[in-house]
Amino acid sequence: MNILIIGSGGREHALAWKIKQSKKAGIIFTAPGNAGTSEIGINLPIGINDFAKIKEAVLFHKISMVIVGPEDPLVNGICDYFRNDSELSHVFIIGPDKYAAQLEGSKEFAKNFMQKYHIPTARFKSFNKDQINEAFLFLNELQAPYVLKADGLAAGKGVLILQDIDEAKTELVQMLDGKFGKASETVVIEEFLSGIEVSVFALTDGKSFKILPEAKDYKRIGEGDTGLNTGGMGAVSPVSFADEVFMQKVEERIIIPTINGIQNEKMDYKGFVFFGLISVKGEPFVIEYNARLGDPETEVIIPRIKSDLLELFIALSNGQLDNYQLTIDDQFATTVMLVSKGYPENYEKGKPIQIGTTNNDIHIFHAGTKVHEKMAITNGGRVIAVTAVGNSMKVALSKSYSMIEKISFEGKNFRKDIGFDL
Ligand code: AMP
Ligand code: GLY
Repeated sequence: MNILIIGSGGREHALAWKIKQSKKAGIIFTAPGNAGTSEIGINLPIGINDFAKIKEAVLFHKISMVIVGPEDPLVNGICDYFRNDSELSHVFIIGPDKYAAQLEGSKEFAKNFMQKYHIPTARFKSFNKDQINEAFLFLNELQAPYVLKADGLAAGKGVLILQDIDEAKTELVQMLDGKFGKASETVVIEEFLSGIEVSVFALTDGKSFKILPEAKDYKRIGEGDTGLNTGGMGAVSPVSFADEVFMQKVEERIIIPTINGIQNEKMDYKGFVFFGLISVKGEPFVIEYNARLGDPETEVIIPRIKSDLLELFIALSNGQLDNYQLTIDDQFATTVMLVSKGYPENYEKGKPIQIGTTNNDIHIFHAGTKVHEKMAITNGGRVIAVTAVGNSMKVALSKSYSMIEKISFEGKNFRKDIGFDL
C-alpha cells in the first residue's frame, strides 16, 4: 500500500524508516519531507496545510494511508477534510478530528476536559480581556512561580513562567493584548508544579489503546536545562523514574480516563495521544496533551518498537487495535539533535552536510535538511537527530556522541549532557 507522511522533521523520517521495513509498504511519500525521507521514498513539494494539493496527490499516487506528523494540519481539520470527502473517505488518515485536536490546540479546552474527567492536573482558571481584575485576584491566590499559557498554538512559545507577581500581571496584560496574536486572546493561569517531566504516548481508535514507549526530551538550548526553549535538543527512552508503579498510576489515573472522555465526548479520534506529564514526588499530573507524536521523542520511541508499525496502523484502521500484539525492545535508545549555529534564534541555512559511516545501532534521522545538487544541506534550526541503541542509557549515549564526531556541517551545535538528570 502507498503511504503519505505529512511533515518534514526527524519524527517523519523515523516513521518513514520504520514503515519502509514492513512487507506491506508500497511507496512512501512524504510532504514536504527532507533529505532523509527522499532516500526512503518520494518527497512531494506540498505544504502541510494545503489540503487541496494533498488530496490531489493522494488520488494521483493511489495512496491509501496518511499519517499526520505535526499538530497544525490536525488543528486545522485535515482529518475531517478526508473523512467528509467522498473521493477520500476510503483513505485511512491517522489523527483526531478537528474537535478532538483542540486537546492540543486550546489549553482552555484541554484543561476543561481534564477537570470534567477528573484527570490530575495543575489547578487553573482561564481569562479573557474583559476579566483582568478576576485574573489578578486569581494570581494573588497563587504562589510564585506563576504559569501563564496562551490558549492557542504559539509555536511552543506561549507558556511563560514568572517569579514575580507584578511581572506576571504585566505579562498577562500584554498576552491578552495580543502578544501571541489570537492565540493569547484567552490565557490559562495555573498553579506551578515542581517535578520531573516525561512524555507518554498512546495510539487509540477512540475506545481501546496501546501504550507506546515513554521518553524524556530536553527542550532548552543549554546544558543543565538552561537558556531558551527549542523544539527539543535530544531524548531518551526508557525513562528510569517512569517505572512499573508510576506507569500503572499513569494508565489508571490518566490514560484510561482520557480515552473514556474521548469516547464520551464522541470525538473521532484514530491517532496518537501525547501525554506531557510531570511526576510530583512520584504522582503523575498532566501538563499538556498533544494530538500527535513528539519530536524528538519519536526518534527514540520508534527504534524500540519491534512490531511491524504498518501492521499496527492497519489494525487501527480495521478496528483491531485491541487484538494487536505490540512488542517493545527493552534496550535503551537515545537521540542527540544537531542544530544550526544561532538556533533557536537566527541561524543560517544551506550548509553542506557530511555524514560518516554508521552501523546497525545508529540511526541518522534528518530534520531540517534538503537535497541540493545531489547533496544534503542544512535547511532548518534542528538539522539531524543522531539516535543510538544500547544496553544502557550510558552505552546508547556514548554511541550517539561518537557518531556525532563523524557528522560535520558549518556551525554544528548540540547539547553534551542529554540524560544528565536521570
Ligand atoms: P506546555 O506548552 O503546556 O507543555 O508548557 C511548556 C513547558 O512549561 C512544560 O514542558 C513545562 O516545563 C512548563 N510548564 C507548563 N505548565 C507548568 C506547570 N503547571 N508547572 C510547572 N511547569 C509547567
Ligand atoms: N518534544 C515535544 C513536542 O514534540 O512537542
